[in-house]
Amino acid sequence: MSQTSTLTGSHPEGFGSTARIDNWWLGPVLTLLGLLAFLIYGTWAAWQDGNFEIRQHTGSPEVFRQANNPALYPYLSPFYSPLIYDAQSTHAWIKGRNLKEEWHLPWWFPFSAGFLILAFPGAFRFTCYYYRKAYYRAFWADPVACGVGEPRKSYWGENSLPLILQNLHRYAMYFALFFLLMLTFDALMAFWWPTTRAKPTELIADGGHTVGIGVGTLIMVINVVLLTGFTLGCNSVRHLVGGRLDCFSCPKNPENVTTGYKLWRFSTMLNEHHMEWAWASLFSVGFTDVYIRMCSLGIWQDFRLL
Ligand code: FES
Repeated sequence: MSQTSTLTGSHPEGFGSTARIDNWWLGPVLTLLGLLAFLIYGTWAAWQDGNFEIRQHTGSPEVFRQANNPALYPYLSPFYSPLIYDAQSTHAWIKGRNLKEEWHLPWWFPFSAGFLILAFPGAFRFTCYYYRKAYYRAFWADPVACGVGEPRKSYWGENSLPLILQNLHRYAMYFALFFLLMLTFDALMAFWWPTTRAKPTELIADGGHTVGIGVGTLIMVINVVLLTGFTLGCNSVRHLVGGRLDCFSCPKNPENVTTGYKLWRFSTMLNEHHMEWAWASLFSVGFTDVYIRMCSLGIWQDFRLL
């Protein structure tokens, strides 16, 4: 059912008209720039189908270019986790295969191990209640801010296509929980370093492992902490763990209601800062990929701390 949205009271009408004297436009502009930067970088990174792990670290550009050995650092970019396929990586689920080459897809075709997975966490963020508010304002200016004139009068809400698809958020949450588990596993594996033997021009993994910590390990752990804060503070998680109950103390509720209440309180505590978790985790996901990519290309050098 359609409704009509108009500014009432003493507010002037017309797009951008307002009686507000604060910098109301700053939030939407920063949101627009931040989300655009992430979208452009994420798409570009997924297109590369490479440099999602560090395969050499001798500092020789020639050896970096060869990149024929398994990863000598235990890092994996969150843009490529889980790694569905790869011709050389030990992280890959389908090892020894490059599907894009095997299927003779041109370089410009948007297919890669990254593209195969990014739709799932992408759908979770795209349908997030906070992000909806943010990009409705930043991209569609509808409304651009509270008490500011809108570009159009009609309003259909989220009750019809295409915005009714935002209701998929509750299902996207399950995928997000799965990806969070995957990234937590990756962060733990970032403490489990392949041991190597040196050859004159390169280092070769010798099949053994040892515990270690590098700068990349810390970056991956921080990324998982921030993603956990964002994911577990989701409104759908709140509903899942306790919000579906009308009354926590009613006798008709199951005995484990106390656990549900504690989980709901914890999720609610995170939810109160959902916007901050959303931005911090978005930045950390992007930066973790940038860090691993730069080290993989030999432009930055990772430091082993332990
Ligand atoms: Fe933001 Fe679910 S409400 S992730």
